[in-house]
Amino acid sequence: MQNKVTKAILPVAGLGTRFLPATKSVPKEIMTLVDRPLVQYAIDEARAAGIKEFIFVTSRGKGALEDYFDAAPQLEQQLRQKGKDALLDLLKSTNMDSGEVAYLRQHKPLGLGHAVWCARRLIANEPFAVILPDDVIAAEQPCLAQMVEAHAETGGNMVAAMEVPEARTSSYGILDVAEDMGSVVSTRGMVEKPAAGEAPSNLAVIGRYILTPRVLQKLNRKKAGAGGEIQLTDAIADARDDGDDVWGYRFRGERFDCGSKAGFLQATVAFALARDDLRDDLARYLAEVVNADRAAQ
Ligand code: UTP
Repeated sequence: MQNKVTKAILPVAGLGTRFLPATKSVPKEIMTLVDRPLVQYAIDEARAAGIKEFIFVTSRGKGALEDYFDAAPQLEQQLRQKGKDALLDLLKSTNMDSGEVAYLRQHKPLGLGHAVWCARRLIANEPFAVILPDDVIAAEQPCLAQMVEAHAETGGNMVAAMEVPEARTSSYGILDVAEDMGSVVSTRGMVEKPAAGEAPSNLAVIGRYILTPRVLQKLNRKKAGAGGEIQLTDAIADARDDGDDVWGYRFRGERFDCGSKAGFLQATVAFALARDDLRDDLARYLAEVVNADRAAQ
């Protein structure tokens, strides 16, 4: 039986350049899918997996994120006075108990690996999760909960994995698969953004990880990798070379790349269509737009 995974690091210090000019003043993680910011989906998923402590690695200009998880006494009082109990209930999911959440700064955007390393002092000798809020995963059983269950059997490092078309492998960390056992694959490591034609498989790493403290030790080297950034996948591969297991986990669910405009728009439509209060009107509107577009072609 493995140690329980109770801490999650959420690196949110990136510049979000693909959403400029919006991200000049709005952190990407606060942008809303329907009516909830991306980061709320990540926290809900983490809680469902048994995570008790949330460590945000932030940067300058991310104040809105800290405010979002703060108490809002004035707003709550006004809602109470107006008898808006349903809205008060809705706000509860945004409340963090004191000590449940920590915010650290990454002073320069040196890469995802470096962002995770910034949280090293808050992780003891225990496995921990890493969640990238811009990968949103719609699933019956939330993705991280699936992984925690599988990790209880395997231990070691585990990364969420998904098949991608060969032409897209150079945009991802790609697993070097040793043995494919279905939902779990054992690996010989992984390569960050392999050059075209050099990907060891088409299984890509998606933004959910359960890692060992050895990965943090490997990040101590601050070795720059693909794109000149300190890559998390490189540190995981290094931990594998030192004897750690590295497993890929094919999750059940649909992943949306909300770090890209196309992925964000698709997620908005999918999450809105999943809502009873929005589905009918939106579906009708989409059908009209698609028909009009076809007729115009
Ligand atoms: P991305 O590669 O999506 O980068 O980072 P980005 O800066 O957020 O967005 P673009 O590409 O400029 O549009 C993946 C995750 O890693 C975090 C990001 O916040 C995001 O959650 N990250 C990345 C950091 O925390 N620090 C970094 O130095 C780099």
